[in-house]
Amino acid sequence: MEPRSRLTPRDDREARRLVRDAARRLEEAGVPEARVSAEVLLSELLGIGRSDLAAFEKPLSRDQATLYETWISRRLKREPVQRILGRAYFRNLELMLDEHTLIPRPDTESVVEAVLGAVDRRKGSCRVLDVGAGSGAIAISVAQERPLCEVHATDNSYGVLKTVRKNADRAGVTLHLYHIDLVSGLDELDKSIEVLISNPPYIRSDDLHRLAPEVRYWDPSTALDGGPDGLDFYRRILTEAKPLLANGADVVLEVGDGQTEDVLELGRRAGYTPLGTHTDLAGSPRAVLLWWGPD
Ligand SMILES: C[S@@+](CC[C@H](N)C(=O)[O-])C[C@H]1O[C@@H](n2cnc3c(N)ncnc32)[C@H](O)[C@@H]1O
Repeated sequence: MEPRSRLTPRDDREARRLVRDAARRLEEAGVPEARVSAEVLLSELLGIGRSDLAAFEKPLSRDQATLYETWISRRLKREPVQRILGRAYFRNLELMLDEHTLIPRPDTESVVEAVLGAVDRRKGSCRVLDVGAGSGAIAISVAQERPLCEVHATDNSYGVLKTVRKNADRAGVTLHLYHIDLVSGLDELDKSIEVLISNPPYIRSDDLHRLAPEVRYWDPSTALDGGPDGLDFYRRILTEAKPLLANGADVVLEVGDGQTEDVLELGRRAGYTPLGTHTDLAGSPRAVLLWWGPD
């Protein structure tokens, strides 16, 4: 006779079992970071740290188990964990996301380091402009970590700017936001920006279809598409921002893999002095540093 299963419905809702099963299903479906996804989603659902899951004894309620199953089904369709949760962590911040906002990347945290270096050379106080604010990751980090700075940020998406405003309020910082095309019409800031930052869209249009489904289907293409050679926005920013820059301004531009030399050269041709690059945690050049000092 077959042994009767000793599992009770409560066992079916036991955290470790749920994570194990979810991780296996995600892995079998070829979803990247299957185990991490399963663990992060459950720990966020339970409001506990990921490392506390292993010792979590209490079975989930029926509602919690149903919600977890819904989230795993969404992850199976390659929706990123941050989109499922509607938020992302970036440096000291928890940032709300919506369909308009790019998920801020860990690589961009190192770009912020380069910006903070430029701010610190000015004794922590200066006027900063972030072009293409997205979730507000860069602008809010600078405002929070260097509170003497006056931080301005632009985006051409109204939806994006609504989210930036929310995120800035949650972080308790003040940003000056502009719903404009790149830097157009910012005459009141003429010759006053001391640190210009941008993480512009930089994927070559022809490469968009090659991106992982998490990016291709879930990040807004307006945050990704950098034109035929991926460099459209660098050309425009380096030209159009000139009237806003103070003499001696630093420019920090996030770049994609293999774009460093091209962007340094674009800067040189536009009259900037190339200062070098800043690497990300993996050791890859992630930001190009330029200096504006024509006078
Ligand atoms: C790669 S995302 C960067 C978002 C954020 N700064 C970050 O680092 O996570 C680029 C941002 O530029 C914005 N953008 C695209 N075209 C723009 C334009 N013509 N003028 C202003 N912003 C633009 C997009 O809406 C998007 O938020």
